[in-house]
Amino acid sequence: MKLAVLGAGAIGVQHLDAASHIDGLEPVAVAEINESLAVDTAKKYGIRAYTDYQEMLQKEKPDISVIALPHFLHKEVSIRCAEHGSHLLLEKPMALNTAECDEIIAAAERYEVKLMVGHTQHYFPENIEARRIIESGELGNLVMINDTRHVNYYRADRPRWFFEKSQAGGGIMTNLGAHSIDKIQWMTQSRVTKVKASVSFQGERGDVEGSGAIFLETSSGVPALIMQSGYAGVSRNETEFIFTKGMLKLETGKGLSISHNGTYEPVQLKPTVQPLVKQLLDLMDAITNDKLLDCSGVYSKTVVSVIESVYDSSETGNEQVVK
Ligand SMILES: NC(=O)c1ccc[n+]([C@@H]2O[C@H](COP(=O)([O-])OP(=O)(O)OC[C@H]3O[C@@H](n4cnc5c(N)ncnc54)[C@H](O)[C@@H]3O)[C@@H](O)[C@H]2O)c1
Repeated sequence: MKLAVLGAGAIGVQHLDAASHIDGLEPVAVAEINESLAVDTAKKYGIRAYTDYQEMLQKEKPDISVIALPHFLHKEVSIRCAEHGSHLLLEKPMALNTAECDEIIAAAERYEVKLMVGHTQHYFPENIEARRIIESGELGNLVMINDTRHVNYYRADRPRWFFEKSQAGGGIMTNLGAHSIDKIQWMTQSRVTKVKASVSFQGERGDVEGSGAIFLETSSGVPALIMQSGYAGVSRNETEFIFTKGMLKLETGKGLSISHNGTYEPVQLKPTVQPLVKQLLDLMDAITNDKLLDCSGVYSKTVVSVIESVYDSSETGNEQVVK
């Protein structure tokens, strides 16, 4: 299968790295509006460079297009790629809002291409093991989840578009909240049904929120908290799962710890394939064997729907039922 990456920014090049390690997958082109970045990236991976993604689609006819672009371009570019018969690996969050998600889903159906959204949480070994432990019942019943993330969101090298509501859709809750919401839904095999949220707009740049505190109810009955801050402070990415007979502490990207009686012990994880490689293999399998995808358009729209409810709740001060 021929693969093209659209957008050679932070994550686009990681997809090219991943694709270079997969038998049966051939990276052929990169489409990147910044010409020198396009040329340098193409040189590094031995592929062709384009500054116009539509020209790339016409000339290269990629089987898979990886869309690693600013959020406001997700809808338009996904639809163009689908029209060209290219299967889609579209980065999260799926789009700026649920109406755009519907248009992408309709295009993928009309042109009969697979649509996968890059919810990478499903591919980290520590996440997979935490999900297995939850499902096994070995720690008893899961009673609540506490997801905390602090990062320096306003770091100088973050591209400007992330801070513009018109281009990013929102701030930290849209970008990193998408991961937390997906993590909670996927791990508990349920959907977020209600949210009560409060977000703050005190960042030094742009017009998006810089923090959010959210109480979520899920269809499984397990409540969750998400606390995210992009202001100065100590970086943290922890999800605690509290059960009737113990606790799990998940640090995605770092590891997993388990507690039966007061202290956390590390969980030994089996070595596994790199998450972005696994993600592409999953998409290739779905294309070859016409399988349904876990991170389908319909699923990924639910994450965007929760994000919309977070902003609605913060604005109105009321709890929101997720549509
Ligand atoms: N799954 C993950 O863990 C993960 C991690 C990082 C980013 N992301 C997502 O990936 C997407 C990209 O994020 P990023 O951090 O790589 O952003 P980025 O700004 O680093 O990269 C985007 C690139 O797109 C290019 N671009 C903009 N308009 C273009 C156009 N019309 N045609 C071609 N290229 C164009 C920009 O020049 C830039 O190089 C976002 O949806 C983001 O939320 C996901």
